[in-house]
Amino acid sequence: MARKKISIIGSGNVGATAAHWAASKNLGDVVLLDIVEGLPQGKALDFFQASAIEGFDSDIIGTNNYADTANSDVVIITSGLARKPGMSRDDLLSANTKIVRDVTEKVCAQSPKAVLIVVSNPLDAMVYVAWKVSGFETHRVLGQAGVLDTARFKAFLARAIGCSVADIQAMLLGGHGDDMVPLVRYSSVSGIPVNQLLGKDELDRIVERTRKGGGEIVNLLKTGSAYYAPSAASVQMAEAIIRDRRRILPCAGYCQKEYGIGGHFVGVPCLLGSRGLEKVIELELTADEAQAFATSVQHVKELVAAVDKMM
Ligand code: LAC
Repeated sequence: MARKKISIIGSGNVGATAAHWAASKNLGDVVLLDIVEGLPQGKALDFFQASAIEGFDSDIIGTNNYADTANSDVVIITSGLARKPGMSRDDLLSANTKIVRDVTEKVCAQSPKAVLIVVSNPLDAMVYVAWKVSGFETHRVLGQAGVLDTARFKAFLARAIGCSVADIQAMLLGGHGDDMVPLVRYSSVSGIPVNQLLGKDELDRIVERTRKGGGEIVNLLKTGSAYYAPSAASVQMAEAIIRDRRRILPCAGYCQKEYGIGGHFVGVPCLLGSRGLEKVIELELTADEAQAFATSVQHVKELVAAVDKMM
């Protein structure tokens, strides 16, 4: 069977690191594309040479030409500006709408059957842009946010409990903004609810740090935003799709009747398989959780309304 093909658009920190995770997992052949001449070629060549040491079989090429991405199974879109200290993700709306629109047109012309995973910010609005431009069925367009946000949540929980992060399960709803909704009630360690292991104040602090997790890193880096965890998160989604693992991961997926959203991409538990989004899982929520989710969804709807005016 021929190897699968993953194209990664944008070879900045998120794109190049995603190529690294994807090839090290032998997910398939990787195409790294950027508009900057030489950048994707140089990174790809360097990384390809590392295959001799690390022993992965994936071929990896760098290119400025979309024709090289033809017939990809999965395309990860990372293009766009990253925020700097003092900026919110929403401040990137106008610049990144243009970039994601342009990139998606070119990607879809080459790979009409691909599943798209959008990573560019503001995430929930950029998934919408990609979906609109692509004309793809809703199950073939997803946004990466929840895997990253729950990774932060899980990592903080593991450190506070003093246990392996491998034993932590966590869920989160809503948009990829500071009003995202980490669900303590749906988070556990080897089946033990986390609120039996940590007190309310500590859990509140962890929830707050998770919500602002992206900004914390922007403030430390000063010249850009996080990339190790965002890229690993995108590749975990790509792996679930490429290997038809039917994993249930929090992603920005299209919800029509689900949760009564009415046709928007928002962070919800998604079952991912070879078709992309196979199913949205609906959770029972308390009144407080439902209220927090509604606030976050309202924010996403406002961003999408702003984007619609630009399209
Ligand atoms: C973050 C950015 C990438 O949350 O959105 O780190």
